[in-house]
Amino acid sequence: MAPVLKSLRALSDATRLRIVALLEKGELSVHELQEITRLGQSRISTHLGLLQDSGLVQSRREGKRTFYKLNEESDGSVAEFLKLAFQGAVELPEHTGDQINLKRVLKRRQEQAQVYFDQVAGRFDRVYGPGRSWQGFGHLLLRIVPPLVVADLGSGEGLLSELLARRCKKVIAVDNSEKIVAFGAAKARKNGLKNLEFRLGDLQNPPIEAGSIDLVVLSQALHHAEDPSAAVTAAHRLLRARGQILILDLLKHRFEKAQDTYGDRWLGFAESDLHRWLEDAGFRKIEISVVAREEEPPHFQTILAGGEK
Ligand SMILES: C[S@@+](CC[C@H](N)C(=O)[O-])C[C@H]1O[C@@H](n2cnc3c(N)ncnc32)[C@H](O)[C@@H]1O
Repeated sequence: MAPVLKSLRALSDATRLRIVALLEKGELSVHELQEITRLGQSRISTHLGLLQDSGLVQSRREGKRTFYKLNEESDGSVAEFLKLAFQGAVELPEHTGDQINLKRVLKRRQEQAQVYFDQVAGRFDRVYGPGRSWQGFGHLLLRIVPPLVVADLGSGEGLLSELLARRCKKVIAVDNSEKIVAFGAAKARKNGLKNLEFRLGDLQNPPIEAGSIDLVVLSQALHHAEDPSAAVTAAHRLLRARGQILILDLLKHRFEKAQDTYGDRWLGFAESDLHRWLEDAGFRKIEISVVAREEEPPHFQTILAGGEK
């Protein structure tokens, strides 16, 4: 059948006019249309099928549900037909009731989401939320990082270096394990990160030109250094004026097995240790806080310390 005749035929029925008028306010599922019109599911589905076939209505699947809406990509003639249909629908005796029920259904839809968040309010940050992750937050925060030159000392295979390299001007990753440096460099090459350079060296005397770095990062690396205060002093030397240091480490703990299990030299640090080393090295604007505590024993706590040259 020709498209115009199809549209005329589709709109020649009172129920289909009611459906079109309801979809004017936005997309609705079959179940919602059922609730509003009090018609059976199969009747509604048949009418929607005809409307879709005529090109007046479109559908989209979301999980188990199908939502229907007016055809937005329609040409001028479809828009004309829909305009007439809205005018016609107003004359139907069911129109007022339909519009009242529509408002109710839309309000409840909004409330359903709200009910969930009201229920979890106060513990929302601790419960699972689909898609919510520290990894995601990390990527978001990276977008606000300016194009810095970064030294990641005791970098490991470059988990953090790679993340930073996606945003920063250059990242120099220093580690004293030959195998780790070789692996990290190969991984960076494979991932196409040309601005990430791995160097073999000691974080107490990093192979990096003095005054060339905007940000030094020491993530879970300082507690491996023989002389942590020397490492902080070396970091200060690498930085240009007003460059920053950020240290993530463990708060002092008593889990002695960490020395054998993880090769740790120090059982974390007191906030006062870090403060003293940063101050002695010449850092200003020192800020230190505990930023995380693990749920599982021995409940390691993560300390974040920062300062400016
Ligand atoms: C616990 S890993 C941390 C890796 C990475 N920074 C992270 O947060 O995922 C510690 C790393 O420091 C390296 N490391 C230990 N002592 C070092 C030293 N004196 N100089 C340079 N790297 C060192 C180790 O080889 C290891 O890769």
